[in-house]
Amino acid sequence: VAKLIGSKPLSGQRVLVTAGGTVERIDPVRYITNDSSGKMGFAIAEVARDRGAEVTLVCGRTEAAPPNGVNVVHTDSALRMRDEVMRRLDGTDIVIKAAAVADYRPASRADQKIKKSSDSLTLELVRNPDILQEVGEWREARGSGPFIVGFAAETADVEKHALDKLARKKCDLIVANNVSEAGAGFGTETNIVSVYGRGDFFEHLPQMTKRAVAERLLDIVKDARKGLAN
Ligand code: CTP
Ligand code: CA
Repeated sequence: VAKLIGSKPLSGQRVLVTAGGTVERIDPVRYITNDSSGKMGFAIAEVARDRGAEVTLVCGRTEAAPPNGVNVVHTDSALRMRDEVMRRLDGTDIVIKAAAVADYRPASRADQKIKKSSDSLTLELVRNPDILQEVGEWREARGSGPFIVGFAAETADVEKHALDKLARKKCDLIVANNVSEAGAGFGTETNIVSVYGRGDFFEHLPQMTKRAVAERLLDIVKDARKGLAN
């Protein structure tokens, strides 16, 4: 039994992972999205599955098919992704938000294909809710809840922005990547990240496969949860 538990350290744990980019509709045939491939979130879901967790993967638009052996929930817009995440929080032990959520969506969605008319067209965008922040606020209001891991995609001042997001979104860890660096970020097979946590926790992971990043990240989560329990 000890050996089984040792090899499946997340057995009995519920892990919710978000992955991919959201899709914000303009009209029935057009939309706004981003370059997220979903690979980082998929790798995390796979490693959590391999460690025995019951994994739910809330996906936006992704390049490949999600891994087997996890519960997949397909979503499109940030608003729908928010609903699918929030309704599953109760009973979830770990939330990892690798999805690239659009910060803005079209103010209105046309029911019919928009016809061209004048020489220019202005698309009005409105702010989307911040799902990660809502998860943090949900936990704070409740006084208990999942361990929360957010991501941060940056092109400059990585540390400053990561620490700001850690505090503002009330999460336990922020995984920051400089998406302008070669070998990191959207669509690549590898990643280069820095993990920031409460109490000045910091660990830089040099370039490695997204699978290796996921493995190390889940080790860090395990240690941090142990620390919280003490
Ligand atoms: N996130 C979210 N909902 C949003 C925007 C972001 O849940 N509407 C989450 C992402 O899934 C990620 C983290 O917040 O885990 C950071 O995303 P990022 O785009 O780096 O940060 P923002 O707070 O959106 O700030 P900005 O884009 O201005 O840097
Ligand atoms: Ca953003």
